[in-house]
Amino acid sequence: MSNQSYIQENRDRFLDELMQWLRIPSISSDPGSKEQMVRAAEYLKQRFLEQGVDKADIYPTAGHPIVYAEKITDPSKPTVLVYGHYDVQPPDPLDLWDSPPFEPVIKTTPIHPEGAIFARGACDDKGQVYMHVKALEIMAKNGDFPCNLKFMIEGEEEVGSVNLGKFCEEHKEMLKSDVILISDTSIIDNKTPSICTGLRGLSYVEVEVTGANRDLHSGVYGGAVANPINVLSDMIAALHDENNHITIPGFYDDVQELSRQERDAMAKAPFSLEAYEKDLDIDAVYGEKDYTTLERASIRPTLDVNGIWGGYIGVGAKTVLPSKAFAKISMRLVPDQSSGKITKMFADYFTSLAPKGVRVKVTPHHGGEPVVTPTDSVEYQAAALAMKDTFGVEPIPQRSGGSIPIVALFESVLGVKSVLMGFGLDSDVIHSPNEHYGTFNFFKGIETILRFYPHYAELKK
Ligand code: BES
Ligand code: MN
Ligand code: MN
Repeated sequence: MSNQSYIQENRDRFLDELMQWLRIPSISSDPGSKEQMVRAAEYLKQRFLEQGVDKADIYPTAGHPIVYAEKITDPSKPTVLVYGHYDVQPPDPLDLWDSPPFEPVIKTTPIHPEGAIFARGACDDKGQVYMHVKALEIMAKNGDFPCNLKFMIEGEEEVGSVNLGKFCEEHKEMLKSDVILISDTSIIDNKTPSICTGLRGLSYVEVEVTGANRDLHSGVYGGAVANPINVLSDMIAALHDENNHITIPGFYDDVQELSRQERDAMAKAPFSLEAYEKDLDIDAVYGEKDYTTLERASIRPTLDVNGIWGGYIGVGAKTVLPSKAFAKISMRLVPDQSSGKITKMFADYFTSLAPKGVRVKVTPHHGGEPVVTPTDSVEYQAAALAMKDTFGVEPIPQRSGGSIPIVALFESVLGVKSVLMGFGLDSDVIHSPNEHYGTFNFFKGIETILRFYPHYAELKK
């Protein structure tokens, strides 16, 4: 039986299995979800075992466990390490979901006329990991493994992969491989496949501005004592100039500028500004002067406030001059910026912006380094051939704006390059309410993964 008809016959079961996994709320950032994380890891381990792998184990870490499985068929074949994550983002704000985030349902949308699974983690990344499990099932059924396979699926990607670096250090031999295959990125649209050739790095900080030692009456003290929220707003506003350049001294020093040719090549990717604006219901885009929207969202570094709070936010009006104000700020980085260096530059500059009368505290969170991957490598070529086979058109290389911090570490710790062959769509609203993953994308992904291995083995000869 052909792979395609096998997929067709087992379609509902594949989706059911994924939907059962999606029912487990594996929210890595939630301290109350520890048990659910273990349940999600256990579920995955069982699915690996069903496919007749040599072994499937759960490795505890200081945080959430890592699932590792392998199927080694012939030491002379190349070895591919598949990486992904089973942890998900918190589902908040809950009231904006049309159906509960951990009760997956399949609905059609204009972009997904064949249906999409709505659930937290459907696209990022359980749905994409599960394509690899089902591709494995089909290779096992055929008894045909073009490559040796290793799978490392972690539970802490959404919280910065803080324990995975150490795990890699400690298991170099076990993780030995020729390439790392990752499905955790997007394609341009379902008719226009693309391969992700770069990810931005990340520097993430929390800031705290303190004025008086207690909340004050805003009539009695207002105007005479610094208001930390007013001050924080000024300080944040000072981080960009009128051209939307970031003002932190030295911030752009290590940024690799793309050549005119590279930028022209980028501009050839299909992109409709009109459709982009319409989708987001905005009357204009916004960003760094002299760069296009695609450039702003991929090859340029950015600084964004992700959350800001302080003072009174309850119902009605309370007159108060708050003692403290807070914000969470992220900076997306591009080659060759370093997250450690940027975090330090930010802290120094931000502190220097504070007027007398307030104190400032900057607390760094997790970070990660940017990566770019070549398009002339064997792994890129194998992914491109696989996508050509299944989509019928050549994929477009495209750098992405998101971050997968561990990818840079794979290169520095394991000395292995990654190929980013994901199948989501930007409109699948990962991290947001109503996250979904097209069934077309899920099944196309399985077929494409099945094509990747023989191409890779062939090209690697
Ligand atoms: N899968 C995403 C990253 C991504 C999304 C890359 C779309 C390319 C296209 C990943 O799970 C993610 O959300 N990463 C975080 C970083 C992490 C440290 C919280 C991100 O980019 O915000
Ligand atoms: Mn992801
Ligand atoms: Mn994510």
